Amino acid sequence: MKVTVNTLHKKARDGEKIVMLTCYDASFAQVMDEAGVDVLLVGDSLGTVLQGADSTLPVTLDEMVYHTGLVARGAKNALVLADLPFGAYQQSREQAFASSARLMQAGAHMVKLEGGAYMADTVRFLVERGIPVCAHIGLTPQSVNTMGGYRVQGKTDDDTARLLADAKALSDAGASLLVMECVIADVARRVTEAIPATPTIGIGAGLDVSGQVLVVYDMLGIYPGKKAKFVKDFMAETGSVAGAIRAYADAVRGRTFPAAEHMF
Ligand code: KIV
Ligand code: NA
Repeated sequence: MKVTVNTLHKKARDGEKIVMLTCYDASFAQVMDEAGVDVLLVGDSLGTVLQGADSTLPVTLDEMVYHTGLVARGAKNALVLADLPFGAYQQSREQAFASSARLMQAGAHMVKLEGGAYMADTVRFLVERGIPVCAHIGLTPQSVNTMGGYRVQGKTDDDTARLLADAKALSDAGASLLVMECVIADVARRVTEAIPATPTIGIGAGLDVSGQVLVVYDMLGIYPGKKAKFVKDFMAETGSVAGAIRAYADAVRGRTFPAAEHMF
């Protein structure tokens, strides 16, 4: 059955975890779709894992449109979520709409954008015009230069209060999903409880969220240098790509991933 926004919200209400992975091409989309992954995220992480850049900033809208088309061709049932890349939505809500429309026309069913309460106006503008939005807070890689590096978020009371206020503003604006990246597990739990209308998806955000996402290359054991704390290599224990993806989906639904060692 086709996964829709309604499917995701029903899963969250029923306490069934949402399974998301990044995906950049048709072949992986087909494998993930057949393994029952709910959401395929065409992430701008393709800048680092496919293109070899040292951040997501160089990724262009044309590149995101291209990869969204590839993924949409391989996906039958999974919901296709496409990242708005750096520079394609921050200028104005009109710019965000024009960029999002290109991703939707390439086959996305939802777009994702980074940023807190200041993006709420843009989220509402898109949702009112037929574009479901996944917001993304916590560690927001497109802001690496203002953050001064990739850091765990929610370590202080001020930071926690800001994350809660951001999440509420984005949920009130109609965000269909909220990704939280590298957020202290207890803070991610509080955010999830504070916004019942918006399922939360964690990456390095603990277990008390509505679902999980990982970069597919990471969970297949393809990463340069040291493995990030929140990553688990599912390839090591299964030996096949399809097996690793199924094991990840099972582990998310069975709440055995993330384990304590993958959390902050
Ligand atoms: O681009 C990406 O892979 C992402 C996930 C880390 C959430 O945005
Ligand atoms: Na991204």
